[in-house]
Amino acid sequence: MVETPSNPPSGLSDVPPEKRPRHIAIIMDGNGRWARRQGLPRIEGHRHGVASLRRVVEECGRLGIEQLTLYCLSSENWKRPPQELDFLMQLLEQYMIEERSGILRQNIRISVIGRREGIPDRALKQIDKTLELTRENTGPRLCLAINYGARAELVDAVRAIARGVQSGRLDVESITEQTIDDHLYTAGMIEPDLLIRTAGEMRLSNFLLWQLSYAEIWVTEKTWPEFDEALLHEAIRDYAARTRRFGGLEE
Ligand code: IPE
Ligand code: IPE
Ligand code: MG
Repeated sequence: MVETPSNPPSGLSDVPPEKRPRHIAIIMDGNGRWARRQGLPRIEGHRHGVASLRRVVEECGRLGIEQLTLYCLSSENWKRPPQELDFLMQLLEQYMIEERSGILRQNIRISVIGRREGIPDRALKQIDKTLELTRENTGPRLCLAINYGARAELVDAVRAIARGVQSGRLDVESITEQTIDDHLYTAGMIEPDLLIRTAGEMRLSNFLLWQLSYAEIWVTEKTWPEFDEALLHEAIRDYAARTRRFGGLEE
């Protein structure tokens, strides 16, 4: 018998490019649960999560998705045990080093959103190097949310706007939604069209509260280490079949 790969990429020829989301955001959850089910320590879940990340980044590139935003570490995740956090920081540093050539090959432009405080210098150094190397890339954008919290982002935006008013650069009456957009970490990026969350939880966990206002939400029971091309296609197919009204009426 001929061996076939267990998860061959099935293609997405049934969904024309204009029906596909331009920007996909993902809450990559369930690494710990996956590891527990395998009888492994939680950190093994994170290690396997990196393999999913690689798969999804490559597949989004093939599908012509303009931007992928991934929730890697929330500002609330600092509540976790130091050993797990140390491991996550090591993984982050390693990812930035090991994936660099692949990212450059795929012409990906990296962005990072979140606060730098708390991230070890070693990891920051590798992040900055990748940011610098990919700055001129013209391909898909990969935005990594690291030490990210939407409420912290809004606080930072309000502070920046207040400073602008204080210095006379901004006028209170001329503050609009666009002004707020322009002061978020995501300034200049398009809004997510599709939000995927793995591991079944029906919540946003402080992710992109402003930017997800009209995103379509798709949740799978599968954990992040189990996430593959076929599931990504399923989410995109489901998205393509929905009607987005943005508060208006169906045509
Ligand atoms: C997501 O998986 C990864 C991070 C939040 C860093 P979890 O570590 O939250 O896995 P569960 O939710 O405990 O299974
Ligand atoms: C959200 O997952 C954060 C990331 C995926 C990085 P959590 O596991 O932290 O979310 P909660 O605690 O279940 O809401
Ligand atoms: Mg979790």
